[in-house]
Amino acid sequence: MRILGIETSCDETGIAIYDDKLGIMSHRLYSQIAVHADYGGVVPELASRDHVRKTIPLIKEVLAEANLTPQDLDGVAYTAGPGLVGALLVGCSIGRSLAYGWNLPAIPVHHMEGHLLAPMLEDNVPEFPFVALLVSGGHTMLVRVDGIGEYKLLGESVDDAAGEAFDKTAKLLGLDYPGGPVLAKMAEQGEVGRFKLPRPMTDRPGLDFSFSGLKTAAGTLVRKETEHLSEAEKAQTFADIANAFQQAVVDTLAIKCKRALKQEGLKRLVIAGGVSANTSLREKLAITTEKLGGEVFYPRPEFCTDNGAMIAYAGLQRLQTGQLEELTFKAKPRWPL
Ligand code: KG4
Ligand code: ZN
Repeated sequence: MRILGIETSCDETGIAIYDDKLGIMSHRLYSQIAVHADYGGVVPELASRDHVRKTIPLIKEVLAEANLTPQDLDGVAYTAGPGLVGALLVGCSIGRSLAYGWNLPAIPVHHMEGHLLAPMLEDNVPEFPFVALLVSGGHTMLVRVDGIGEYKLLGESVDDAAGEAFDKTAKLLGLDYPGGPVLAKMAEQGEVGRFKLPRPMTDRPGLDFSFSGLKTAAGTLVRKETEHLSEAEKAQTFADIANAFQQAVVDTLAIKCKRALKQEGLKRLVIAGGVSANTSLREKLAITTEKLGGEVFYPRPEFCTDNGAMIAYAGLQRLQTGQLEELTFKAKPRWPL
């Protein structure tokens, strides 16, 4: 069985073909970062227009690379939500139209389900059940996963998502959007322990997160500590603040993951979403799970962020287990998992 996957929920056009025997046959990712760079964030209207320009050419490219024709496919999966409604509508309308024209099932996929199944694209596949930490620009969630479509939300952010906090703090440090990966690089040059930031909501029970206070605390440090400094001193202080910020986010996520695994009596942890590309987070969670006698699973870095392969894979699972939504034309900007 072979599925075409289409991801257009935010600022990346991701297209892929996944085969249940051969795995990923081909995939393409076009990032709009340059389009939005001047604006300091994603401009929804520009995102939609760029998806319109890129989606069909990339579909042609993946079919050509895999040496396939539409007749060789068994379904078309597309991200139906959550995300930017205009951007979603592009993938949704192209996906549904192609499926209709090619006489194939159209498979609406939840973007976060795509992320949480992304580790299944790797050789070391986690068995069910497991706890998944989903950390992206729009979401921070802990989910118990018992099987395809069997998801129980254990906790989530009550304000900013982890990636959003990375991006906002990066902006305070003078970095361009999306600043998460650049802040992570900057943190490597920082002095460990020069500054200490809080680990929000870890001193009380529960599995929810809050990251907006952490960004504010980092902003206060930037204002207080960098006045009257030379450029070189400023660069070092920025790196020290980046280090303290990253450490605080990583520790907070690790504390809650450990709590979730203990609460659910599980040993397998999956991390996915853009922030799961963070090396410091991966190292910390490897140690945390090892101490519990467990294991952590994550996708390769290019499948941590938005991509078409995870949507094709999730679509295949939905089709194989007969879990298809009713065939209405819908994009859902908000959609609980
Ligand atoms: O999953 P994703 O590509 O898009 C959403 O669905 O939101 O995640 C993007 C987020 C951005 O906030 C980006 O700054 C963050 O993931 N990110 C990182 C790293 N790589 C991407 N944050 C921290 N460290 C990284 N290495
Ligand atoms: Zn995402």
